[in-house]
Amino acid sequence: MIYNNSGENMKKITDLKLENKTVIVRVDYNIPIKEGMVTDDNRITASFKTINYLIEKNCKIILLSHLGKVKNKEDLEKNTLEPVKIVLEKLLNRKILFSKELTGKKLEEKVKFLKNGEILLLENTRYMDYPDKLESTCDESLSKYWSTLGEIFIMDAFGSAHRAHASTVGIAKYLPSAAGFLVIKEVEKLNEIKTENKTLLLGGAKVSDKIGVIKNLISTADHVIIGGAMCGTFLKVKGYNVGKTFVDDEKSNYVADLIKKYENKIILPIDVITENGEKTINQINNDETIYDIGPETIKIFNQYLSTATLVLTNGTMGLYEDEKYENGTKYTLKCLYENDIKTVVCGGDTANAVKKFGYGFYYISTGGGASLEYLSGDKLPGLEVLGE
Ligand code: 3PG
Repeated sequence: MIYNNSGENMKKITDLKLENKTVIVRVDYNIPIKEGMVTDDNRITASFKTINYLIEKNCKIILLSHLGKVKNKEDLEKNTLEPVKIVLEKLLNRKILFSKELTGKKLEEKVKFLKNGEILLLENTRYMDYPDKLESTCDESLSKYWSTLGEIFIMDAFGSAHRAHASTVGIAKYLPSAAGFLVIKEVEKLNEIKTENKTLLLGGAKVSDKIGVIKNLISTADHVIIGGAMCGTFLKVKGYNVGKTFVDDEKSNYVADLIKKYENKIILPIDVITENGEKTINQINNDETIYDIGPETIKIFNQYLSTATLVLTNGTMGLYEDEKYENGTKYTLKCLYENDIKTVVCGGDTANAVKKFGYGFYYISTGGGASLEYLSGDKLPGLEVLGE
């Protein structure tokens, strides 16, 4: 049995009769693609257990995924899943059919002629977001339409389970649905640690997502250590000039309240690295950007990390892809690794950094925002809909 955050038993892929069925699988192939090439295939390979199981059951498989946000015509050009199709084909060593269309006759024909054991990948589901946000608003007619393409729905996109979209929650309302192997593994692992004392190490760029989650986790967390792009908002609220570093102004009041309430738990940098080198946080000029945490900050962060019982980390401490700005990420991860701290890595960028620096950790989740939200006790709509 696996339980979601409502305590309900979730239906599992192994609970359903799947032989020869047409199965729609929501996967999360929202992965980095640079110049048309996939640069991290973790989320692709993580979906193989479910895909191979369905192949064994002689199913016709329809894969749905989003990729990035689609807000304008340019996004429609650049956010195609075609590079993912190429990687899928190579890694699974079988032909993958692709549909540029997300609705209509051509797509329906492709589904109709799909043979048992074949896989059809549809274009980025968020293409339906332009211009009417049909995917992201969980539009009822789109959800219903997609559900008519198959007989069963498998939710295997743990990383997107916090989104109530047509392709995550919508279809599940109209078809017999269950959790795929990836979702099962994530939920089992995260359930195991849900009640343990945690220290959070947060960074990266998705500021708004994480600020919300801190609120839920901070009262029970030992410490919340903040670096990366996120610290810009916190430092600005504390009165420091952060130059051109991104600041989430909409969340400023909220951050101010957090700092007031949890002053002793929130640990912020005292020095940083900008394009002009090391700076203490009161030396940052208007035209500078924070690209990494500084050496004194690394020492302080590592003092907290080396004595933590369980660390959840999401988001990197700086622009770790660039050697000039990799130290914050590298040395905080090294500290966790060398001190054998039970560490759960939540999300793509951090998982990439872990790979780059060659450290192994207790658990690497495919979810970023989703895993943090799950651990904070939030009910994730994509999992709730699978509850019995
Ligand atoms: C992620 O990468 O966190 C998931 O794929 C969700 O993506 P989103 O934040 O664009 O919904």
